[in-house]
Amino acid sequence: MVFLRTLTHLSLFALESMYLGHVAAYDNSYYDNVVLYWGQDSYGATHTDTAYLQQPISYYCQDGAVDAIPVAFVDTFFGTGGMPVLNLANTYNPTDNATFSGTELTNCSSLASDIEYCQSRGKIVTISLGGAGGSTGFTDDAQAQTFAQTIWDLFLGGSSTMRPFGGAVLDGVDLDIEGGASTGYAAFVTEIRSLASGASKQYYVTGAPQCPFPDAYLGSVINQVGFDAIYVQFYNNVCGLQNYDVVSDWSFGVWDIWAQQTSPNPNVKIYIGAPASSTAAGTGYLPIGNLSSIAVQMRKSFPSFGGVMLWDASQAYANNRYDLMIKNALVATGSTGFIYPPCSAPAFVSGQAYTGGSQVSYGGYIWEADYWTDSTPSSSSNSGWSAISVCEGGSVTPTTTATSYTTTKPTSTSTSSATSATTTATGTCSGVAAWQSGVTYTAGDEVTYG
Ligand SMILES: *[C@@H]1O[C@H](CO)[C@@H](O)[C@H](O)[C@H]1NC(C)=O
Ligand SMILES: *[C@@H]1O[C@H](CO)[C@@H](O)[C@H](O)[C@H]1NC(C)=O
Ligand SMILES: *[C@@H]1O[C@H](CO)[C@@H](O)[C@H](O)[C@H]1NC(C)=O
Repeated sequence: MVFLRTLTHLSLFALESMYLGHVAAYDNSYYDNVVLYWGQDSYGATHTDTAYLQQPISYYCQDGAVDAIPVAFVDTFFGTGGMPVLNLANTYNPTDNATFSGTELTNCSSLASDIEYCQSRGKIVTISLGGAGGSTGFTDDAQAQTFAQTIWDLFLGGSSTMRPFGGAVLDGVDLDIEGGASTGYAAFVTEIRSLASGASKQYYVTGAPQCPFPDAYLGSVINQVGFDAIYVQFYNNVCGLQNYDVVSDWSFGVWDIWAQQTSPNPNVKIYIGAPASSTAAGTGYLPIGNLSSIAVQMRKSFPSFGGVMLWDASQAYANNRYDLMIKNALVATGSTGFIYPPCSAPAFVSGQAYTGGSQVSYGGYIWEADYWTDSTPSSSSNSGWSAISVCEGGSVTPTTTATSYTTTKPTSTSTSSATSATTTATGTCSGVAAWQSGVTYTAGDEVTYG
């Protein structure tokens, strides 16, 4: 073990002197950040071979591919002795490795230098709380505030006799809450922010909600307190990357609108969270060419875009350095600067009916109709519109015009006219089957109605 570790550090030095003269510090405002979750050995969990078992964290910090590493996970908030439980799979876990006396908190002191190595390469390393199997949650705000102090003392700028990573001071917290209730999380974040204010270095708060908006657990939390970045899990859900081509399923636009109009931190960054290989998630994995073109398209379409989050390090390395390939695609498109596309689609006309696939400009976005709609574009899931890009200038409908159109709106389709509509569909409706009451439709189906 010691011998291997020495070799690793030797090779790190070699790499460093070969092609890494300058180390850039992490910049949360960039558009090309790559976030790589580390700690859960997803490859090892899904393969019997040992070729790509999770390595110590420094192994994944040797080049410029990765900018941020959430360490996953503190998966239980209140374990034995009232202390959190930290489980890093094959690297350190409370069953196989030493824990602090009277607790299930693993003493991972050998990772201190690994973490500091990553930080010296300009990367941030955060502690991720939760995970899919996590035993998480608070009874009330007071308990959450106390827990914030515990996390601060164990992993961040505080002090404790039980520091899992010894003297290494992590760069923030990540909330990957996939169960329980929202109770207390806003108070938790507020307390972390308060402890971090005035500190000599910057601390980050990030969250990893799933892609359906709003998220069941973090939805109300991210509306109440400012996050620095949101790593949206675009996998294991209908809104995942596998359905990028289905405009009504793909929801990045909803997240951008949230970032710009609702988030307490208007500079919050939104990431495409992606599986790093086909075995890293149930659905959502795409070959690197697909993910690259989607990421580049989102980077050019939405100013909140921050980069790509990958689950997880072991899978990315087993999959031909998926992390490095996506980093290259993002870097090629530019770390900084956002050029607003023109509002090239015709201005939305209130009261007019639009067929699926129609595009309009409205409220600073270009929208595409998911299906037939006469609603006003909004990020509400039943408006029938999806925001596909921000836009600037061009044809934005003034509110006054919209109002006058509303007053002259033709008699709208109502449920009572549905029957006649189905039997009299002609003209531009031809070729598309009439909507039938009681029939179940799936995303992408087209019908005529009204
Ligand atoms: C933790 O225990 C596992 C299982 O015995 C072992 O493979 C691993 O090397 C241990 N971790 C460290 C850092 O020693
Ligand atoms: C943590 O582990 C290190 C290395 O084994 C050891 O030196 C240290 O005493 C341990 N800390 C505690 C509080 O048990
Ligand atoms: C992936 O890219 C290929 C080639 O551009 C394309 O044909 C395919 O539809 C894409 N798949 C997805 C799921 O986006």
